[in-house]
Amino acid sequence: MQTGKHMGKVIVKVDKADMVPAIPRTPQAGVRSGVTYIIAGIGGICREIARWLAEKGAESLVFLSRSAATGAENVRFAAELRITFAVKILAFDCDVGDRAALEIALGKCSGLPPIKGCVTGAMVLDVCSSALVSTSISTDKHLRILFLTR
Ligand SMILES: NC(=O)c1ccc[n+]([C@@H]2O[C@H](COP(=O)([O-])OP(=O)(O)OC[C@H]3O[C@@H](n4cnc5c(N)ncnc54)[C@H](OP(=O)(O)O)[C@@H]3O)[C@@H](O)[C@H]2O)c1
Repeated sequence: MQTGKHMGKVIVKVDKADMVPAIPRTPQAGVRSGVTYIIAGIGGICREIARWLAEKGAESLVFLSRSAATGAENVRFAAELRITFAVKILAFDCDVGDRAALEIALGKCSGLPPIKGCVTGAMVLDVCSSALVSTSISTDKHLRILFLTR
């Protein structure tokens, strides 16, 4: 059929047990060297993403959280990443919901390669009367504005 040379009718019979071999498409994420990735949050998901970025050859990572630079666990994590992957890491204590604070932190990144990617994984879990409330910090809007105006 592919050659278009057949004549007449073609009957295709599909049985319930027939299998179609298919290779699922794996999404290809291109991690670039020579650029900086901003990571807002340095908790569970952000650490895994940062490790993944470093493994894939990211050259420069910037962590932003209220205790990214001073929290003992965060300092330890950044050091481990630096040693394991020879990745350049900066960390700033920054409330990413505060646009002015975010602007100051990004201003300190001016010596780094251009910022080309951002992960937002900042979140607070709080107990509110009887419910557990998860608040994602809305960094996206601030970051978009700040990147566009750089
Ligand atoms: N963990 C997973 O497997 C997973 C999977 C899919 C999606 N997610 C989503 O990813 C987000 C993060 O989850 P997680 O498990 O990584 O949470 P997590 O371990 O609690 O980490 C939250 C991070 O947010 C930071 N943060 C909180 N408020 C902040 C603020 N105002 N400014 C800057 N940083 C702030 C915290 O650091 P400081 O306290 O130092 O500010 C902390 O590093 C959530 O929205 C979650 O639903 C998680």
